[in-house]
Amino acid sequence: MSKISVMTVFGTRPEAIKMAPLALELARRPEFEARCCVTAQHREMLDSVLDIFQITPDYDLDIMEPRQTLSTITSKCLTGMDGVLEQAKPDLVLVHGDTSTTFAGALAAFYHKIPVGHVEAGLRTYDKWSPYPEEINRKLVGAIADLHFCPTAANRNNLARENIQEGVFITGNTVIDALQTTVVKDFSFSEKVLNDLDYAMRKVLLVTCHRRENYGTPMANIMTALRRVADTFPETELVYPVHLSPVVQEAAHKYLDGHPRIHLIPPLDVREMHNLMARCHLVMTDSGGLQEEAPALGKPVLVLRRETERPEAVAAGTVRLAGVEEETIFLMASQLLSDPLEYDKMAHAVNPYGDGRACRRIADAIAWHFGRRDAPPAEFTGECCRG
Ligand code: UD1
Ligand code: UDP
Repeated sequence: MSKISVMTVFGTRPEAIKMAPLALELARRPEFEARCCVTAQHREMLDSVLDIFQITPDYDLDIMEPRQTLSTITSKCLTGMDGVLEQAKPDLVLVHGDTSTTFAGALAAFYHKIPVGHVEAGLRTYDKWSPYPEEINRKLVGAIADLHFCPTAANRNNLARENIQEGVFITGNTVIDALQTTVVKDFSFSEKVLNDLDYAMRKVLLVTCHRRENYGTPMANIMTALRRVADTFPETELVYPVHLSPVVQEAAHKYLDGHPRIHLIPPLDVREMHNLMARCHLVMTDSGGLQEEAPALGKPVLVLRRETERPEAVAAGTVRLAGVEEETIFLMASQLLSDPLEYDKMAHAVNPYGDGRACRRIADAIAWHFGRRDAPPAEFTGECCRG
């Protein structure tokens, strides 16, 4: 019987982290011919993930430019994918999440009449402008996709509201699969400052901030609040691996440079990041992925955004929305740093996003779709927040 040819397409750091274990799972199975195409919407941050998971892409569009615009990313991906799809002619294209690569990858496959599977499907804020442009990217991909791999039941319910009922599977999030391979007990960091920190005696705050809708005033507010937190609480050490976007680099250095307990460091590789998260006291972030990983590691998260498309951990009590106003962010961080009971309420491990078997379920669902299995995989059943 011929193999099912499945092409994974990804381009940014979070897509790579979440698609790597799936690409490896597909490559491991005899029923698939696994192909991998990277757009390299991110260059260094993507390559770091490829190195760690030892993935060599079959195709690399190498599209990244400094300060790239949404239109440039989309058009370069779309044009680049043309040649790739023409040559490889896969039976299925898999895209992940909500980036410009995701949208362009799905659209290119549709133009070539190739079925599309959407990994991490069904997340919604119902706010067109936040996250921007991701909310619209994932809605557009939802309209194109034939198979929808939803991390949670709430995500499936979002799709049902849009009348998407066929080809929907609840699988858990593949990021939890990745997390299970990266966190180890005795980890040695390559950044000296991370090895030197006393994680038991100091309160290490892990910070990331990069979203486009936070550019400008929100990002300035966030950075000012972070500096106030460091000034007010001498027991804290802020570690901020700064995204390589020049806009983010400028803001972070403008507001946070020159403080003895604020450590602005280059982006960490995913193993370093997960192990730092496992050791920190509190996470403050506007990232999507960190909102999924930190709860699994029992770390409280303050989300530096007005909304979240990941309500499950909010419902479970380990994630709180802090918004993008300086005062609110400062007050919410202050409460967790000065009130141990409040902190303890948030600091428990929950796994609403996955059990480490998402990739297996996705591969099983694909095999079933192509008639190579008798039954679809059993659904992932998260314990909390059924939307
Ligand atoms: C993109 C995604 C966002 C995701 C984020 C993850 C879109 C529209 N946005 O946003 O959903 O949350 O990735 O990090 O798809 N750069 C480098 N080297 C790198 C990576 C980035 O120099 O390895 C710089 C480049 O100057 C680039 C800029 O960062 O132009 C911005 O990258 P881009 O992919 O456009 O946007 P992100 O904010 O990273
Ligand atoms: N991450 C990383 N190094 C860093 C910052 C983040 O490996 O310096 C990982 C993080 O653990 C998560 C993913 O990158 O798996 C999240 O990516 P990002 O925050 O850039 O994007 P988002 O999830 O917001 O789309």
